[in-house]
Formats: sequence, C-alpha cells, structure tokens
Amino acid sequence: MKFAIAALAVLLAVSYTAEARVLLADAPAAAPMAAASVPTTAPMAAAAPAAAESAAAPEVMATPMPVPQATPAPQGCALSFVQGNSSYSKFQEILNAAPSSSNYSNILSDSMAGITLFLPTNDGINATLTKFGLDLKGLLENQSLVDEVIAYHILPSPIEYAAFKEGYSFNTLLKGADLRDSLRVKRSGNVIKVAGGKTTATVGMNGSKVCMDSIFPINMLLLPRNSIESSSSTNVST
Ligand SMILES: *[C@@H]1O[C@H](CO)[C@@H](O)[C@H](O)[C@H]1NC(C)=O
Ligand SMILES: *[C@@H]1O[C@H](CO)[C@@H](O)[C@H](O)[C@H]1NC(C)=O
Ligand SMILES: *[C@@H]1O[C@H](CO)[C@@H](O)[C@H](O)[C@H]1NC(C)=O
Ligand SMILES: *[C@@H]1O[C@H](CO)[C@@H](O)[C@H](O)[C@H]1NC(C)=O
Ligand SMILES: *[C@@H]1O[C@H](CO)[C@@H](O)[C@H](O)[C@H]1NC(C)=O
Repeated sequence: MKFAIAALAVLLAVSYTAEARVLLADAPAAAPMAAASVPTTAPMAAAAPAAAESAAAPEVMATPMPVPQATPAPQGCALSFVQGNSSYSKFQEILNAAPSSSNYSNILSDSMAGITLFLPTNDGINATLTKFGLDLKGLLENQSLVDEVIAYHILPSPIEYAAFKEGYSFNTLLKGADLRDSLRVKRSGNVIKVAGGKTTATVGMNGSKVCMDSIFPINMLLLPRNSIESSSSTNVST
C-alpha cells in the first residue's frame, strides 16, 4: 500500500514535469528564467511569458524622458527672491556668511521645501544693529550667530497671511529654541507684528508666494533670546 502511494507520487511528479517541459517548449524566450521554478507546478510555467514581459517593462520606462529640456533652469525660489531685490542685500550677505555646515541656502532654493521666510529689509537690519549696538561685520564674523539668526527667520511650513491672528505663535528652525523664542503674533487693526527672542518686527502687508514658500518682509532683524547677550555687552563697552 505504502509502496503504491509512493509510486503514484513519483508518477504524478514525472507527469507534471513532463507537462511543464511541453509548456516551456512553447515559450522559448522565457525558458532560462522559468526553468528553476518549473518542476513544482505547471501553471507557473504557463505564467512565465507574462513574467518575462513585465521584467522587460522597466527597460522601456528607463529611456530618457523629454521633460528636462522643456523646463527652465531652477529659479531658486525664496533664495532668488532675496537675490532679486537690492532692498534685501544685507540679508543676502548674512546668508552668504552662513557656515558651510548650514543648509539654509539649499532649503531656500528647494522648490519642494515649502517654508516661510521672514525677510528683513536693509533698513530693518540697519535699525536692529543700531538698536543693539552691533555692526554687520561683527555679526558676520560669528558663524554660530549667523547660523542661528538665519534659522530664526525660517518657519518649517508656508503660512498664509490669515495665520497672523492675535495669540498665534510660530516655531522657527532655530535649534534648541524654547517658548520665549517662538514668534508670537501681536495684532492691532491691520498692523501685524511678530515678537520673540530679543526683537519685535512689523510684518509687511503683502507677502509673496514663491514656489511653495511664503515670504513676508519685516522691518527688523530677528534675534533669538540667547544670540547677542555677550556680543551686545562687549560692543556697548567700546
Ligand atoms: C523690493 O523690496 C522692497 C521692500 O520690501 C519693496 O518695497 C519693493 O517693492 C521691492 N521691489 C520689487 C521690484 O519687488
Ligand atoms: C538640505 O536641504 C535640502 C533641500 O531642502 C534637503 O533635501 C537635504 O536633506 C538637506 N540636508 C540636510 C543635511 O539637512
Ligand atoms: C545704515 O545706517 C548707517 C548709519 O547708521 C547709514 O550710513 C547707512 O546709509 C544705512 N544704510 C541703509 C541701507 O539704510
Ligand atoms: C557668537 O554667537 C554666539 C551666539 O550665537 C555667542 O554665544 C558667542 O558668544 C558669540 N561669540 C563671540 C565671539 O561673540
Ligand atoms: C496687498 O494685500 C491687500 C490685503 O490683502 C490686498 O487688498 C492688496 O491687493 C495687496 N496688494 C498687492 C500689491 O498685492
């Protein structure tokens, strides 16, 4: 009895294999690939031609697409906006002075980043430096300060003008920031200010949308809470 079952199993195995070989003969292109998996079941072998077709498909997809020729060079998004208006040349100087480890120029020119940039005008930067007894050259020489100041002007997502509601506040990209560094909205009528750290800046009425970024001009350089204690006091004494 046991012997008979074993013999039947062998017969079945042989007949499946034979059937598989017949199917493979009908599909010569797929034979080398399918050979390894054939002996188990015939239906798999029957599916082999289809598998071979889908395996070939990615090669078709990989042929170059005509898109890059048609689109203009990347515009640089928020970074181009800064570079394109001489009213922001001092903030551009600050961006240029960022340490090589800083990634802000990439973020500001990334068309997919979707950030908010509070962009101080030259007059605003001037007023801030005067108020705190700093000079731009001194600020630019301190790389960690430059890094912090830039981060403090960027929010990680694009906000709309409607988000400037009394009581709202925004976290910036400043690392190690605490609540006192959040930019809190202070609104009276149509005058909108953001306050946080050492400074309170008035936000220009008309923001701009560039790529996925929101850009709002401001009339101060935003300084984080811990940014200038020491530089401020050393400068005051001179
Ligand atoms: C440049 O920026 C200033 C300050 O925000 C703004 O008043 C002026 O309209 C801008 N100029 C252009 C050409 O966009
Ligand atoms: C730098 O910025 C680019 C553009 O936003 C981003 O893709 C990349 O991951 C960033 N790299 C680091 C180290 O943060
Ligand atoms: C900045 O202020 C200095 C004097 O404090 C002035 O000479 C200079 O013209 C100002 N620059 C701008 C862009 O307002
Ligand atoms: C540079 O700036 C940092 C704050 O970002 C401050 O702690 C440090 O004292 C400054 N260094 C100098 C030499 O002023
Ligand atoms: C500035 O914003 C106001 C209020 O949203 C709007 O009425 C006006 O058209 C905007 N001006 C420009 C030049 O976009």
